[in-house]
Amino acid sequence: SKGNYRHFMAKEIHEQPEVVGRTIAHYVDFASGTVVLPELPFSFKDLKRLSITACGTAYYAGLVAKYWFETLARLPVEIDVASEFRYREAPLDPGELAIVISQSGETADTLASLRYAKAQGQHILSVVNVPTSTIARDSAIVAPTLAGPEIGVASTKAFTCQLAVLLSLAIGAARARGHLDEAGEKRLVDALVGVPGLMTEALHGEAAVEGLAREVAKAKDVLYLGRGTSFPLALEGALKLKEISYIHAEGYAAGELKHGPIALIDEDLPVIVIAPCDAVFEKTVSNMQEVAARGGRILLITDRQGVAQSAMDTLGTLVMPDCDPVVAPLVYAVPVQLLAYHTAVFMGKDVDQPRNLAKSVTVE
Ligand code: F6R
Repeated sequence: SKGNYRHFMAKEIHEQPEVVGRTIAHYVDFASGTVVLPELPFSFKDLKRLSITACGTAYYAGLVAKYWFETLARLPVEIDVASEFRYREAPLDPGELAIVISQSGETADTLASLRYAKAQGQHILSVVNVPTSTIARDSAIVAPTLAGPEIGVASTKAFTCQLAVLLSLAIGAARARGHLDEAGEKRLVDALVGVPGLMTEALHGEAAVEGLAREVAKAKDVLYLGRGTSFPLALEGALKLKEISYIHAEGYAAGELKHGPIALIDEDLPVIVIAPCDAVFEKTVSNMQEVAARGGRILLITDRQGVAQSAMDTLGTLVMPDCDPVVAPLVYAVPVQLLAYHTAVFMGKDVDQPRNLAKSVTVE
């Protein structure tokens, strides 16, 4: 049931502190400040590379995870959408690890990619939300997301639960590979454990998001920009918006602005910038200045320090709670989802059943 909410999507967005908290509790030992991974038939220490395959929103979760595995665990990651990966005949070394990510566990292309990697002698680890699904049954290692049933066609809580699982895996990999001492692991685990509280705080900003949604609803096209782990979030924001509001939206790495999309900038194209005050923040500020100099209108999602340091004139700014940049994608997912949701609701769209879309894509 939808409980007190108008739509399943709203309910599922608001459930995130609880279900992400439950998922995190499954993967961390609070007392020792360490992650607890499923039993693995290999050691992360011995891996040379990791491949990640998924579709849609699950693919964007994988893209965030690429930053985590490479930065924290120094493990090279190849990631692709399953519909490309399955036919590319990529050379895969036996004994290495393939991760597939799927909410439903039934996505045809993702399943085909899994089977390809398995046929090459790779270990298969699936991050799935439906434990009885085909993908889960076909995987030697299952890392469950504990999001509970996701009814809204647009994925929300499954995405943030996928992020929680993938960050836990990356922390475990970093430890196994000797890139994280006890104190370092505890710092990351503390940051992860703090996420549900930060998501609750982010949800408290909903009224401000609604205000911005009225602006976005007037647009024909919207551009999302981000750097680092905020880049996949920009892609996810654009996907969410186009799925449920039918407004054309594109996500770009902020640094790519100059290489093409800057030509689109005018006063009619809202530019949504996702920029926690992290190591690449100043670079993103430069990109925002380029947008502003061309009359572009910016909607900025950042934290208090980001507001102070950017000193930008924006059409609107959403201020997120302060958080460790490592966990920012989980927290910033909340306003990104709310913005798409409220834009679509404001436009009178069927948020839970957008046209032409199916919840589970079991045919390619
Ligand atoms: C977007 C969305 C889709 C799915 C994609 C993969 O909101 O829901 O892009 O993420 O179809 O589905 P699963 O995760 O079930 O494999």
